[in-house]
Amino acid sequence: MADCGRGLQQVRNIIAAAHKDCSVLEKLQFYDQWATQYEEDVSILDYKAPHLAALALASVCPLNRESKLVLDVACGTGRAAEELKRCGFTLFHGLDGSAGMLEVAKKKTLYQDLKHGMLGHEQLPYDSDKYDAVIIVGALSDGQVPVSLLPELLRVSKAGGLVCMTTRSNTSNLKYKADLEEEMSSLQSKGFWEQVLVQEVEQWEKATSEKEIAKESDYISGVIYIYRKIPDPSTGS
Ligand SMILES: C[S@@+](CC[C@H](N)C(=O)[O-])C[C@H]1O[C@@H](n2cnc3c(N)ncnc32)[C@H](O)[C@@H]1O
Repeated sequence: MADCGRGLQQVRNIIAAAHKDCSVLEKLQFYDQWATQYEEDVSILDYKAPHLAALALASVCPLNRESKLVLDVACGTGRAAEELKRCGFTLFHGLDGSAGMLEVAKKKTLYQDLKHGMLGHEQLPYDSDKYDAVIIVGALSDGQVPVSLLPELLRVSKAGGLVCMTTRSNTSNLKYKADLEEEMSSLQSKGFWEQVLVQEVEQWEKATSEKEIAKESDYISGVIYIYRKIPDPSTGS
């Protein structure tokens, strides 16, 4: 990708290109190319999701964070694990569909295990009931990771484990957000998990599409959700 020192408008153009109608594979290729510039660019957008999600997860996990095994799904370059580490978590596994993003994450030596894989259409490559916490930040949105991933997040969590998810509430993502919340409620009504926290965030990140910049403030909003897996009464797990 181009060199450093980009301005907000340049970053908006880059993200707009990423959000144009394209296949998931094309999107992952885009992330491959963007990987080395990603963190600088999202900081220009004031992208706060990894920081806020880590604080939210820490707030509902007050004890022994250093011994909790956390799966960072769609880990990208590792921003969520970095923020979780600041909150006292130390054990991280990560998975992402972009080899380029994973390459950057690997250099941080934060993760004990990093895997390359597609999300949403196949099983996660992990055993059931393995993780104390699962986090997915910045990837549950229109054109990225489908809502069909949710039962898998639940499957790999331990009984009593926490699942932390984020999404955007800007206009173009509202349909996806509604589908996501419907799936969350459906899993709750089936007794698989219970809602622990919902945090609406007004200033999630700076808007990137012209329409939203004009209509809303300079920022778009987002949401953090945390659910706790309910033990299966027949097995206790
Ligand atoms: C906006 S980045 C977020 C990365 C990181 N969680 C963060 O907050 O900085 C979205 C990540 O999701 C990954 N991703 C998006 N759709 C995916 C899919 N269907 N399968 C696997 N990875 C996907 C991308 O490769 C990218 O690293």
